[in-house]
Amino acid sequence: MTSQPKTIYRQDYTPPAYWIESVDLTFDLQSEFTQVTNRMRIKRNHPAPAQALVLQGVDVELLSVTVQGRLLAADEYQLTPTTLTLHLITDEADICLITRIHPATNTSLEGLYISNGMYCTQCEAEGFRKITYYLDRPDVMALFTTKIIADKQQYPVLLSNGNLIGEGDIDAHRHWVQWQDPFKKPCYLFALVAGSLSCVTDHFVTQSGREVALKIFVEPQDIDKVDHAMLSLKNAMRWDEQVYGREYDLDIFMIVAVSHFNMGAMENKGLNIFNTSCVLAHPKTTTDTGFQRVEGVVAHEYFHNWSGNRVTCRDWFQLSLKEGFTVFRDQCFSADMGSEAVQRVQDVNLLRSLQFAEDAGPMAHAIRPDSYIEINNFYTLTVYEKGAEVVRMLHTLLGAQGFRRGTDLYFARHDGQAVTCDDFVQAMADANKIDLTHFQRWYQQSGTPEVTVQQHYDASTQTLQLTFKQHTPATARQPDTLPLSIPIRLGLLDANSGQPLSFADTDHHALQEKVFILTQAQQAFSLAQVQAEPLVSLFRGFSAPVKFNPAYTPKQWAFLMANDTDPFNRWEAATQLYVQEIQQQCQQWRADKKVQLSTEVCEAFAHVLSQSLDDQAGQAQMLTLPGYAYLAGLQTPIDVDALCAVREQLQQQLAAAVLPLLEQHLQQPLAIEYQATAAQIGQRALRNLCLHYWVKTQTPAAYEACRQQFYAANNMTDQYAALTALVHSPSPLKVEVLAAFYQQWQHEPLVMDQWFTVQATSPQPDAFATVQQLMQHALFDRKNPNRLRALLSAFCRSNPLHFHRMDGAGYQLLADEVIALNTINPLIAARLLPPLSEWAPHLPQRQSLMRAQLQRIASHSGLSADVYEVVSRALEA
Ligand code: TRP
Ligand code: ZN
Repeated sequence: MTSQPKTIYRQDYTPPAYWIESVDLTFDLQSEFTQVTNRMRIKRNHPAPAQALVLQGVDVELLSVTVQGRLLAADEYQLTPTTLTLHLITDEADICLITRIHPATNTSLEGLYISNGMYCTQCEAEGFRKITYYLDRPDVMALFTTKIIADKQQYPVLLSNGNLIGEGDIDAHRHWVQWQDPFKKPCYLFALVAGSLSCVTDHFVTQSGREVALKIFVEPQDIDKVDHAMLSLKNAMRWDEQVYGREYDLDIFMIVAVSHFNMGAMENKGLNIFNTSCVLAHPKTTTDTGFQRVEGVVAHEYFHNWSGNRVTCRDWFQLSLKEGFTVFRDQCFSADMGSEAVQRVQDVNLLRSLQFAEDAGPMAHAIRPDSYIEINNFYTLTVYEKGAEVVRMLHTLLGAQGFRRGTDLYFARHDGQAVTCDDFVQAMADANKIDLTHFQRWYQQSGTPEVTVQQHYDASTQTLQLTFKQHTPATARQPDTLPLSIPIRLGLLDANSGQPLSFADTDHHALQEKVFILTQAQQAFSLAQVQAEPLVSLFRGFSAPVKFNPAYTPKQWAFLMANDTDPFNRWEAATQLYVQEIQQQCQQWRADKKVQLSTEVCEAFAHVLSQSLDDQAGQAQMLTLPGYAYLAGLQTPIDVDALCAVREQLQQQLAAAVLPLLEQHLQQPLAIEYQATAAQIGQRALRNLCLHYWVKTQTPAAYEACRQQFYAANNMTDQYAALTALVHSPSPLKVEVLAAFYQQWQHEPLVMDQWFTVQATSPQPDAFATVQQLMQHALFDRKNPNRLRALLSAFCRSNPLHFHRMDGAGYQLLADEVIALNTINPLIAARLLPPLSEWAPHLPQRQSLMRAQLQRIASHSGLSADVYEVVSRALEA
């Protein structure tokens, strides 16, 4: 940064002084640079008084400016490092800008860059200004035409948005193609790709009978890994027609896989660009989790065609308008493709382990933030995952039909527009004739509400009174907090028989379940005709993104775990049972007493394991102890060592207690032919979880079973499970299997990412030294975000025991890497920071070590806006 980074406020939004009606781009891809010719038709936005035209441009070399056919002299415009200002004398003008950019040295992976010899773009949020001078804001929507000129041999495939409208040869070596996008769009949806790519083609017939060509482009060696993405795409297209009535609108839909990519994927109009990790899948190289991620991300980007592209954001404060809504859509899609409860557990786990921490940390912000320095820092779990929870609550409040009425109105009313979160909620309210003013507080307030409940049963009147309280903790940035609208889905269980107990609402209808809406700080609800004192199953399906913890005994949790009719809440009961156990054993551990698994937990665990259920994925989830991150969020200060030790010892004791059951499960043969079906994925999840527990017994037999599975596996899920179990164990066999894995997969980058991760996340004593060595490994490459995350983020986020070493070496390692990345790729540098910036809940000794590293980063000269914003907010407190 040359100047002090500036804060942008949502309140300061003003419409643009000019519109761009059309833009005609020519890219001449030459070996030393790319020359961009940008012809824009500009029109003054009439209500605005005459103003200068200020275009944004970063790292763009300006060669010439022509207005209305006249070449301007250098004193007729003003240039700063980030802007080009023109003074127009007419309301409309044709402007032509010729500029040069340098994709080959662009390591930020924003704008136009090169990945493995392939040109590609990433324009969201503000990358287009690294391509040419432009009004780089989402409310400026233009018709785009794009001509690409390049070497024929090196770049046979030349792609951009929309339809191909022309192609030809320049000379013997160079060729050109021209694309035209018939839909107006903001420049963040622009895309260009040039490379030597292989392609799989398929087609889809829309509900109105139009045929759409589907093409997935990948590097030639990956052509056998696109079937799953193609199938997922067709499923997503059909689902959006059936569930939302949304049909695809161009004759062609393309996906390109790129190795160097900052995020998961990008929804550029008609030309989605994907991180290879989110599109490539093959049974031999990809785990079941990988298959599911591909399905989810392909759907997510496809769904953006309506929720994001046809209706887009007015400004970047409205990001959750498209992201929260689209995440909700992809979650529901994945639920429909597999199991609803299993999907819900995954989504809730992500929210509670990472979003809750973000919402309690220095970067806490509402799903519609009020200010930012660098918008890249607001592509967060809060905007995406909590945003999706807020949309889900609207779905809960309005019901499936009411919600659909709302989305129909939203799409009809705002098609072709750039709108706000308020517009979305207003469409929901208008379509259902209800007032959502109070609900809108979810868009304004940050932090996770905490809900408590008190239950009073009156046997003489058969009424149950439930008194709820809610409170959102205040912070320095948000000193006053308000009560929110919190939907609480609940049902009752007979505390003796475990059978569902019905109750009556105000209309005296007998109900099994009802959604109550808590809107006050304290509020009581009465349930009538309740036959006996019940056990209440609360927040079914996690009906609101809040913290709540009824004071149930282990017995009561175990009872709910066994009897609740809601499958999500059976899992939740198991989770809370484990949480209580772990918290209690942490106290033992701290008092230097023996960690001793309680019989209640052991029996509940054994009971689940002994069942032979159809839903094996759900069964595996019930048998998984809550993760470190979620547990840490429930503790202040966080006792990293106690949590890790107790979690480990409890797993060992559970394994020892149920050994015969584990062996029984592991006698089942491995699946013969791999399929990515929900049933098979569940089978493998349960079997490999049993293997995981068995290895906790630290016996030669268990280690040998792992070794055999490692070599016998015909798919990555089983192979990687065996590898992980061994590498994370004390067994010396790990040396052999790690070497074998390396030998087998060294030419598959996505598999090598896994090889780095499995070592970075090991709880064994040598893990930190191993990470330091791996940072020097020939295959480590900090310029590739996937590889960097596979080693560094995996270590800092998923190896708490060693990252939080008491000598601070883990913190120092992360700070060094942030400083190195700050100049290479600021977006990625900033995204590495949360394990350091979320220092507050830690023990004083760790706090000061973490803050010292943050100070060291802060004092570095030349900090990017991205890193500056996170570090300065982290040090504010
Ligand atoms: N809009 C993308 C999505 O589907 C997010 C995204 C992809 C992105 N690449 C990016 C955001 C680079 C910022 C920078 O969620
Ligand atoms: Zn998205």
